Amino acid sequence: MIGKLIDFKINGDNRGSLIAIENNHNVPFDIKRVYYIFDTKKDVRRGFHAHKNLKQLAISVSGSCKFLLDNGKDKEYIELNSPNQGLLLDGLVWREMFDFSEDCVLLVLTNEYYDENDYIRDYSKFLEEINND
Ligand code: TYD
Repeated sequence: MIGKLIDFKINGDNRGSLIAIENNHNVPFDIKRVYYIFDTKKDVRRGFHAHKNLKQLAISVSGSCKFLLDNGKDKEYIELNSPNQGLLLDGLVWREMFDFSEDCVLLVLTNEYYDENDYIRDYSKFLEEINND
């Protein structure tokens, strides 16, 4: 698999559910940045980039969305539709996100601050980078 799915333990009782995420315990990196994508309009596709070094863990804490992952050789489609499942993206992976439900809140944890220099936003440059790797 290109992306790795991680199941989080749900602390549930008759009041409801709670999930805790801790650095280097159930997330395999130190978390430096958290962002979330929400209010995504119908039929929007986002992403269209790869990262040179960034590690990310994406969780659809509400609703659902789909990922297309591409490592230059293979493609993979993953639907995130549960707050207790995280998608780990590490290494050179082209990603696109689509089919966001109206209520989707996509939470992303990363191991680095935002850095535009870490992005590859051109698919042909992504393929070149893969071949140089
Ligand atoms: P963008 O990279 O277009 O989002 P996506 O890859 O999900 O389609 O990011 C949208 C805007 O938000 C863009 O102007 C960059 C900015 N941004 C930050 O300022 N900090 C961040 O951590 C991220 C991920 C984006």
